[in-house]
Amino acid sequence: MIKTEELIKGFKTAEARWARFGPYYAMFPFKFAFDIVKKYSKKGDYIIDPFAGRYSSIYAGAVLKRNGLGIEINPVGWLYGIAKIHPANKKDVAGRLFEIYRKRNYYSLNKMPEFFRMCYCDEVLKFLLAARKCLDWKKNNVDATLMSIILVYLHAKLGEGLSNQMRMTKSMGINYAVEWWKKNNMTKPPEINPYELIMKKINWRYEKGKPNIAESRVVLGDSINELKIIASESNAKKFSLLFTSPPYYSITDYYADQWLRLWLLGGAENAQSLKEKHKRRFSNKQEYCDLIDNVFGLCSKIMKDNSTVYVRTDRREFTLKTTLNILKKHFPNHKIKTINRELKIYTKTQTKLFGDKSMKPGEVDIILES
Ligand SMILES: C[S@@+](CC[C@H](N)C(=O)[O-])C[C@H]1O[C@@H](n2cnc3c(N)ncnc32)[C@H](O)[C@@H]1O
Repeated sequence: MIKTEELIKGFKTAEARWARFGPYYAMFPFKFAFDIVKKYSKKGDYIIDPFAGRYSSIYAGAVLKRNGLGIEINPVGWLYGIAKIHPANKKDVAGRLFEIYRKRNYYSLNKMPEFFRMCYCDEVLKFLLAARKCLDWKKNNVDATLMSIILVYLHAKLGEGLSNQMRMTKSMGINYAVEWWKKNNMTKPPEINPYELIMKKINWRYEKGKPNIAESRVVLGDSINELKIIASESNAKKFSLLFTSPPYYSITDYYADQWLRLWLLGGAENAQSLKEKHKRRFSNKQEYCDLIDNVFGLCSKIMKDNSTVYVRTDRREFTLKTTLNILKKHFPNHKIKTINRELKIYTKTQTKLFGDKSMKPGEVDIILES
């Protein structure tokens, strides 16, 4: 049998190729996810992640033959989870890509704002409008897989994706990007054939096949609502590892950061701060406490008595104190320990991986064992 280290090293296996799928802000380094799953669970165990992001925890569990359940409110993260945990067959994805490409000429670019005309050449922009209109990503697995692959390459360094020069993990603001392209004489987007580029990416991703993984659930929604439903299922109390990383207080707006990918999913043509709870920056203390309290409270109801809880969070005082107190309240019989994560085993914090140097305080791992 192949060892885990071999399975995910480089890009030699399907498991390794899909493990890195999906650029996302504040993501777990994928090797860290494998290490934690391996250390704190065994084959056949059930793992839950109520703030799944790009689903590294659940994917690592599935590769290691644990059954997972991940919930994510942001459709970008959820689609990354769908593509790596339930990828459709390559032939169907390639066929659908061709269909979407053929529809591109039905779309007019007349009303598209300057930002889009500078970011994408006409062929790409028409293709994106067709994908935006026609892909039924919420309901259809082939469409979800294709949409997810397009999302990954929607913006990237020049030459690596569909766009003019952009960052891959975070969508830049419209004014900032336009000014930057003008200043750097880059107002003309690269000429790209979107069919050829996406087909090349599909060929590479599927070259070693689909990952061989255990059955796992990938749920789109607010954990507070979804966990209530899950808790009411018969045999709900089966999870032995809760492995997650909640949003950090007042740090990130996952929706504004991904506005361009959310536009492709049908959202607005610019970055907007949404009004809905849990879809904007977590900067209200009471709301933040309620979210953490509700989610960990509901999780405690579906965990086995001899479970492990592994939470990575921010070391800033408010986030850390809130999380520790709430975890102690819901898991009163567990022993608790914390590990500071900076420049020790994993030199790159989740946020530094993205290139954000403003996140100085680092992270902390909170571990509760029965
Ligand atoms: C720190 S990130 C998790 C990153 C993840 N560990 C990874 O490796 O990609 C926190 C995630 O929680 C999600 N989130 C916030 N509130 C939520 C809620 N009420 N229900 C489900 N997901 C939520 C955010 O959209 C964000 O993706």
